[in-house]
Amino acid sequence: MTEYFIGLMSGTSMDGIDAAVCAFDDTLPEPRFLRVHAHASGHYPAPLRERLLTLQRTVPQLSLRELAELDRDVAQAFADTAELALEAARLPREAIRAVGSHGQTVFHDPAATGGSIQLGNPSWIAQKLGITTVADFRRADVAAGGQGAPLVPAFHHALFGAATLPRVALNLGGIANITLLPGANAEAVSGFDTGPANGLMDEWAERHLGKPYDEGGEFAASGQLQAELLEALLGDPYFAAAPPKSTGRGDFHLDWLRRRYPGLDTLPPADVQRTLCELTARTVADAIRNHGPQTREVLACGGGTRNHLLMERLAALLAPIALRSSADAGLDPQHVEAAAFAWLAMRTMHGLPGNLPAVTGAKRAVVLGGVYRG
Ligand SMILES: Nc1ncnc2c1ncn2[C@@H]1O[C@H](COP(=O)(O)OP(=O)(O)O)[C@@H](O)[C@H]1O
Ligand SMILES: [Mg+2]
Repeated sequence: MTEYFIGLMSGTSMDGIDAAVCAFDDTLPEPRFLRVHAHASGHYPAPLRERLLTLQRTVPQLSLRELAELDRDVAQAFADTAELALEAARLPREAIRAVGSHGQTVFHDPAATGGSIQLGNPSWIAQKLGITTVADFRRADVAAGGQGAPLVPAFHHALFGAATLPRVALNLGGIANITLLPGANAEAVSGFDTGPANGLMDEWAERHLGKPYDEGGEFAASGQLQAELLEALLGDPYFAAAPPKSTGRGDFHLDWLRRRYPGLDTLPPADVQRTLCELTARTVADAIRNHGPQTREVLACGGGTRNHLLMERLAALLAPIALRSSADAGLDPQHVEAAAFAWLAMRTMHGLPGNLPAVTGAKRAVVLGGVYRG
């Protein structure tokens, strides 16, 4: 028998919501991921996106009233995207065992506060869809002593980890993160955020092109690398810090750029875009070399795989390690993160743990998330 779950994800790029309808076989005790059956992308209405971006760039300051409104509005956008995916899947809603909704992170600082907050009221999603919804995946891991992040490495391991050659799964989202998959043993898996990716490049592109991102990396490709700027940015202590570590757009933004390099605005804008692209490629390649020296191939996913210059620079800096698309291992780069939350919902509904303690630092593997009946 085949079981279906829908994964819903929106990351730090805030470019929209990805939904993946995923098929699993019913091999017990651990159902196996089969394929992405259908996919859909949804958008945040522009004013909602602006409010969420502002929250992400600044120390969150909002009233309880705003919090409640955002919780509902994000949930509505998630539910709308799930509806699109259901239509694309041509499946009756009863065929879906559950939705796994990551929600939109608006606060994440487990070390200082014990808190990781994702908006997108799961009761709202469950009631709108009439489908049981699993959500709030991070807090059980935090309560078990972990960072609540990253969670996707467990899925990377289940999907890509069985290969005999040491691999790395690389996600190029708003922030770049890697999962080191040295072999079949889950205990040996590790993963962390390497630093900025699309988030920083998007901010610069928006300012100088008036577009949400640098299509294909063409603006960057028209500029020259500024070596002094690159060195100043690489000097940020985050890059040399030992993992486990995680970061967000609150750490890497335009003010960060100006702080590290006060002469920023005197440089040609295309040169800055070129250098930000290089910064992402360098910090990702350095992290893989330093922490996974045995790596033979890197499987890339996320929106950054569409930035041709970024992929070209990554391939050059990683050689002789092969840079491939996750599609080569059977999963479209746009589907990986959403599919991970379908997989995590499957784990929860089967009473199986979803975190990898070796990755998050949790004291034990735990069943993640809350179940909201639809
Ligand atoms: N055609 C493209 N050219 C360059 N960059 C792109 C393209 N399409 C998407 N992107 C980048 O990918 C980002 C979205 O990536 P995504 O994996 O959804 O990140 P997140 O998980 O943070 O939401 C966009 O903000 C943009 O920077
Ligand atoms: Mg996205």
